[in-house]
Amino acid sequence: MNRLLVTGGAGFIGSNFVRMVLSEHPDYFIVNLDKLTYAGNLDNLTGFLDHPNHKFIKGDICDGPLIVKIVDEYQIDTIINFAAESHVDRSIAEPKIFIETNITGTSTLLEVARDKKLGRFIQISTDEVYGSLGSQGKFSEDTPLSPNSPYSASKAAADQLVAAFGHTWGVKYNITRCSNNYGPYQFPEKLIPLMINNALNDKELPVYGDGLYVRDWLYVYDHCTALWQVLQKAPPGETYNIGGCNEKANLDVIDLILKRLDKPKSLIRHVTDRPGHDRRYAIDAGRIINELNWRPSVSFEEGMEKTIDWYVQNQEWLANIVSGEYQKYYESMYGNR
Ligand code: NAD
Ligand code: DAU
Repeated sequence: MNRLLVTGGAGFIGSNFVRMVLSEHPDYFIVNLDKLTYAGNLDNLTGFLDHPNHKFIKGDICDGPLIVKIVDEYQIDTIINFAAESHVDRSIAEPKIFIETNITGTSTLLEVARDKKLGRFIQISTDEVYGSLGSQGKFSEDTPLSPNSPYSASKAAADQLVAAFGHTWGVKYNITRCSNNYGPYQFPEKLIPLMINNALNDKELPVYGDGLYVRDWLYVYDHCTALWQVLQKAPPGETYNIGGCNEKANLDVIDLILKRLDKPKSLIRHVTDRPGHDRRYAIDAGRIINELNWRPSVSFEEGMEKTIDWYVQNQEWLANIVSGEYQKYYESMYGNR
């Protein structure tokens, strides 16, 4: 039995990864460590919480003694670190927790990986560490790091720490840098689920600035299969960009949502832009495609249909989230925008 410590496995991508592994790879046991912040949700693991190959533990990646205990008790060989504060707008409002979780937390995990001589440490990073593109070009793994938001700066710092632990102490690591994910179980602070939720409730759709900012979208299941290839095949010390070649302007994504939900364009409202807003991201995924034989399997149109339908069919999941703290968040972020 292979034994993984997955951190942040009650969040959006982490829970999709945990469900994929438990469904498709019966020879893997997962310890899922998650602090259950506002973004962590055990409903994301419905049907899998009590799976015999899954142990959920509520805890913080900054808690070194807890990580040591877990690694010893469950004979962990690999850590996959999804845990993070992940929303750019929140990092602009309150950067401190991003420094704590994304930098100190990663460093804490790395110390354990070093001391326990783990087989692998996989850091789930982001294309945002490369900064912003103009109208041409794509991010490759050799693009210099140039993060622009407190979120991306904290992720870039974590990446540098991972590489430094590899260089200094021989920690066997991989770093993955994926573009924007979408799909089931994404917290409705991010563009796509926020717009779906608002449209379903006939609420205005707050588009930052001119709405012509470009993101390179990947269906979350395809991100998970890419991570699986990294786990199985990547040599230590390598970094991989992950993306599906789906560059879209925000307004085009919103247009697609409105059409599928049969809602009017008049719901769109242009609001004050995000400070320091990155104009365009685009991924060159050639390395993972050529070296690890990964391919995305879901087209953008198909992925968006699946995603929108999932939110329509899981309005109780959405309602549980937007009924609580979310109201305050929404008011503070969008109330006077
Ligand atoms: P998310 O916000 O949905 O989930 C983050 C999870 O981490 C939550 O379950 C939360 O409770 C947990 N967490 C936060 N702080 C913690 C701590 N101190 N200790 C333990 N658990 C903690 O995020 P996501 O969108 O699923 O992103 C997962 C990872 O993927 C992040 O590292 C993010 O930077 C990266 N990433 C995200 C995207 C994207 O489009 N969402 C793209 C590329 C990379
Ligand atoms: O590129 C990978 C990154 O993608 C991940 O590392 C981050 O964790 C993830 O949050 C995401 O960051 P973005 O800032 O690109 O995603 P977000 O969904 O917040 O915004 C996508 C685009 O939509 C961006 O141009 C801002 C815009 N936007 C977003 C929201 C929430 C709006 O116009 N209105 C909104 O209300």
